[in-house]
Amino acid sequence: MPGSRVLLVVTGSVAAYKACEVLRRLQDRGVEVRVAMTKNAGKFVSPLTFAALSGHRVLVNSFDDERPERIPHVRWAEESDTFCVVPASADFIAKMALGIADDFPSTLHLAFDGPVLVAPAMEDQMWQHPAVQENVDKLRARGVAIVQPTIGPLASGRHGPGRLAEPLNVVDAIMEVLIMEPAKRPLAGMQVLVSAGPTREHFDPVRVLTNPSTGRMGYAVAEAAVRLGADVVLVSGPTQVAEPFEVEIIRVTNAEEMRCEMLAHAALADVVVMAAAVSDFRPVAPVPEKLKKAAGDTMSWKVERTPDILEELRQLRGNRTLVGFAAETSNLEARSREKLDRKGCDLIVANLVGTGGTGFEVETNEVVILDRLGGNVTAGPALKADIATSILDAILEFRQRLGIASPEKAG
Ligand SMILES: Cc1cc2nc3c(=O)[nH]c(=O)nc-3n(C[C@H](O)[C@H](O)[C@H](O)COP(=O)(O)O)c2cc1C
Repeated sequence: MPGSRVLLVVTGSVAAYKACEVLRRLQDRGVEVRVAMTKNAGKFVSPLTFAALSGHRVLVNSFDDERPERIPHVRWAEESDTFCVVPASADFIAKMALGIADDFPSTLHLAFDGPVLVAPAMEDQMWQHPAVQENVDKLRARGVAIVQPTIGPLASGRHGPGRLAEPLNVVDAIMEVLIMEPAKRPLAGMQVLVSAGPTREHFDPVRVLTNPSTGRMGYAVAEAAVRLGADVVLVSGPTQVAEPFEVEIIRVTNAEEMRCEMLAHAALADVVVMAAAVSDFRPVAPVPEKLKKAAGDTMSWKVERTPDILEELRQLRGNRTLVGFAAETSNLEARSREKLDRKGCDLIVANLVGTGGTGFEVETNEVVILDRLGGNVTAGPALKADIATSILDAILEFRQRLGIASPEKAG
């Protein structure tokens, strides 16, 4: 399913190179793939190859993670929809059957509580060995999907059963496993509109009034919403963040453009998350030519308020869930509750800015999510991807309390 996240575990088999093809074909279908490898798999294909293809770090050792904000096998397990071993060595199958956890992939296996798929690959004598067959039966009885190896030429030159199933058949099997997981797609059928990034208000063609927002928080919300099954439109100010899969991105520069796009797309949205850091002010009279340096040391510019996009969205509301963001430098909760009431939003995600690990220009965040029914959830400190999931959970819970959790169009 587009937006799903697959853990691809590669083990020590000659067929390891075929996992590259599986990874690519999953990406073609909009699936995000993270790779974990056994140490022996690295003798066949370098982790660097999988890192380059997947765009993510590849973990081999539980102690390799450079950013262990949270225990990596727990984090990777929580952030993934399925655990797939391609190719699966006889050794790794045995470890799975016994519950051994002596390296990163096998520890990840035990930490993961979703659907598991195994595509074995080995020589015919190994595949037909009773020990291997018993282990495979054990996994099957546990509900693990086994992609049956085929009969054909093997790495040794022999001919027989044990050859990894064709990569496209493995991909189809993985897609089937993903489709079977509706509980992990609670936003299926819903339209989510997200804004992200700063806006730039020009004084002249080369000078702007803006802020340090990177857009990462809004992008993380858009990505998480796709993963949870939503159709997502992202209206983005200027950012350097990589474009997420399966998200319709509309690029804007200034507050007025953001206003027009948000209002145009809000009509169809069930949920609107206004994560953009829209500039509060803009020059009253921008000039079309580059300004010459002034003779003196100072220069005065008259600025005016930019449109209040959140307020205009509120006026459209209906059953649409409207989520605002509040960046405060002190009195976080009280000021955000006041903003929630004043703006008439359903939820406010409040974060403290100006303290090292939160807010603008950092990978992590810590927020308080307040809703108009009095709900109050704290999330973080955590990666923005985790915070995004907490925000969407809070939105779903809020809609459930109002009895509008099921996919339906706002009035
Ligand atoms: C050249 C070569 C090819 C191998 N191919 C396979 C294979 O296809 N399947 C398999 O189960 N083991 C194969 N092995 C043996 C495994 O690599 C070995 O059992 C290893 O301990 C598996 O480690 P892992 O499960 O941690 O990746 C091969 C070994 C070598 C040297």
